[in-house]
Amino acid sequence: MIVGWLAVGAGVCVGAVIVWWLLIRTEGVYLGRGAVIWLYDLYAGRYDSIKQFEPYNEDYYLARPILQRLPHIAAPLVLDVATGTGRVPLALLDQVTFHGRVVGLDLSRKMLAQAADKLAPYGNRVALLHHPAERLPFPENTFDLVTCLEALEFLMDQRVVLREMTRVLRPGGLLVLTNRQGIDVRLMPGRTFEHDTFADMLRHEIGLAQVAVEVWQIDYRIVWARKAGYSDSAGPLPLAEIWQCPQCGAVDLVPVAGGWRCLSCEVLVPEGDDGVIEANRLLPDGAAGKNEPGRDVVTSARTDRG
Ligand SMILES: C[S@@+](CC[C@H](N)C(=O)[O-])C[C@H]1O[C@@H](n2cnc3c(N)ncnc32)[C@H](O)[C@@H]1O
Repeated sequence: MIVGWLAVGAGVCVGAVIVWWLLIRTEGVYLGRGAVIWLYDLYAGRYDSIKQFEPYNEDYYLARPILQRLPHIAAPLVLDVATGTGRVPLALLDQVTFHGRVVGLDLSRKMLAQAADKLAPYGNRVALLHHPAERLPFPENTFDLVTCLEALEFLMDQRVVLREMTRVLRPGGLLVLTNRQGIDVRLMPGRTFEHDTFADMLRHEIGLAQVAVEVWQIDYRIVWARKAGYSDSAGPLPLAEIWQCPQCGAVDLVPVAGGWRCLSCEVLVPEGDDGVIEANRLLPDGAAGKNEPGRDVVTSARTDRG
């Protein structure tokens, strides 16, 4: 009898540890993308306090080192993949020397809602897209800077996303990543890389140049890399000039009442009241916005909403 109860107790403990490991320690990554995003939606309201972001640290360890590596570009065009609650956009836009624009992309709608709230004062210098990282909706060679911080280990196919980020970076553009280290590496088998292995992969598989892995935080190293070649910066282009329609791929979206209308295929991409663009939720031809008075008004305001 006692042995039976001990066996039940041990089973419950093992089960609890497995649940803790799957849901808390590894944030759902072994359960698939849906579980990861569900958990980030669940924790979005508490994410910043869990992370304990400090403006001083974000300025000193993140924004300044990035801008020091972009010395000749006063107004860069930036893409932050898996932007979460908008850490990178906020750190950059807070800098008086930064005159660029930032697009933040994430698949957790609730993380983006937090970002939208914090970034509202920056108006059209930031755009937030609810969209997966696996296919970035921009033409190749678009951005001066692409960042993806503390997120790579939660992406299902890391190589696909690394290739996508490299594709949309302009030649000579800067890619900034993080690579996890410490105890978590042992607790997340198959999701993290040895630093040297990661650097080799970026050089030889992804084709990046000037790869450097540097000490950064307790749990992460920061990784700098450049896309091979060189092209001039096109400057801080508005979203309307770089964003590909999720349905037909044309760069032909204009702001209308309730969202963005593709002038090529007529699909409507809705925009939330908080300004987050619902790029993975399309409304068919004829949905709200098409024939509303706002269309003409906002079409002419293309660059204002950009
Ligand atoms: C640890 S947070 C990092 C957020 C932010 N980069 C930072 O440093 O605070 C990881 C983020 O990755 C996002 N994410 C996970 N999988 C994604 C995917 N496939 N596409 C887009 N975002 C994803 C999550 O929603 C979450 O916001």
